[in-house]
Amino acid sequence: MDVFDLIRQQSEYMRDSIPLIASENVTSKFVRECYLSDFGHRYAIGEIERRIYSGCDVIDRLEEMAVRYTKELFGCECVNVKPISGTVANLSIYRALTECGDKIMALPIRCGGHFSFHDSASVRCLKTVEMPFDPSEFNIDLNRAKKRIIEEKPKLVVLGASVFLFPHPVKEIVEVAHEVNARVVYDGSHVLGLIAGKEFQDPIGEGADVVTASTHKTFPGPQRAVIMCKKELAEMVDYGVMPCLVSNHHIHSLAGYVVACIEMIEFGRDYAKQTVKNAKSLAEELYNLGYKVLCSHLGFTKSHQVVVDVGKGCEVVEKLERVNILTNPCLLPWDDDVASGVRIGVQEVTRLGMKEEEMREIARFIDTALKDKKPINEIKNEIKEFKSNFLTVKYTFEEHPAY
Ligand SMILES: Cc1ncc(COP(=O)(O)O)c(C=O)c1O
Repeated sequence: MDVFDLIRQQSEYMRDSIPLIASENVTSKFVRECYLSDFGHRYAIGEIERRIYSGCDVIDRLEEMAVRYTKELFGCECVNVKPISGTVANLSIYRALTECGDKIMALPIRCGGHFSFHDSASVRCLKTVEMPFDPSEFNIDLNRAKKRIIEEKPKLVVLGASVFLFPHPVKEIVEVAHEVNARVVYDGSHVLGLIAGKEFQDPIGEGADVVTASTHKTFPGPQRAVIMCKKELAEMVDYGVMPCLVSNHHIHSLAGYVVACIEMIEFGRDYAKQTVKNAKSLAEELYNLGYKVLCSHLGFTKSHQVVVDVGKGCEVVEKLERVNILTNPCLLPWDDDVASGVRIGVQEVTRLGMKEEEMREIARFIDTALKDKKPINEIKNEIKEFKSNFLTVKYTFEEHPAY
């Protein structure tokens, strides 16, 4: 069996599946074409017009475009487009804005925080103080957070999350953080595409000093990341990225990122609006079917995610995987180390053209599978049939097969 066989098998598997992993997406063929270009063979160490190797003139134009379109989409003062992943972006910020041994404050993993706020931060010997969280609102507990920031005086306050249903109180946190000379970093990895489509909060407008984000979750670009920041931090941030954390910044995927930016400028609002509508519909239908979907009193979600308390997250995820419904378990605020939640993301199925009606159908597939209402193979076949109407990438310049 050779690798091309595996590539074909993977495409077939995805073609017949319902992809609901909240951190993934499908790119357009225009983005994918970039992966095959000569850019993938090149290095461009240094900044635009100040490279170490020769032969970078065309790459300079490309990186200029990436900077220009990012500024157009997000209204940021400065941007670094070189981080090759969200984790690398966060590490670069730790390098740029902290000293070894400093404190940072961020959500714990059971409240949605990402391991790059914790395990990766330990690379710089940072101590992560827990950001207080209010489980009933599924959000930062603002009063306790303000108090803790004043008491602990962290160097950085990290907002944003991996399990992320509602906008965080950026403006209020910035006010108190600045009183103790802490910088506020907003990790928008999950919601970058919603921010670009003006369907979530605007962390830059609300005063965050830095926004880090991977570019392949709700933002339908290649797997890499961006850092946006205020002008006074740009030099430190650039050094934190290159040379500290990045050498080769994967120019072929940078080209793909530029294409994804152009797609989001053109189609991002429609895509983001439909994504949030879809998440709400899926949540509502699961709730009506008797599932403990979090935050019914708040309309379930304002993002691409739906979170369900199922008791045994891993078992439920495995059961869904058996019928080709792809999700992941997640810790919930009241868990110790056994995940009781399932996180569901609808951004990828939205990109494939699904709307509210299909969300209700997906909820019914989930219910059928979890309650063993039909044999596994029968459900799989029904899912294959259902998915066969959604094999096209939308919200791009020319719709085309996804797999
Ligand atoms: C909030 C958050 N930050 C950072 C990351 C890391 O991004 P990457 O996988 O691109 O390193 C993730 C990934 O899921 C995330 O959810």
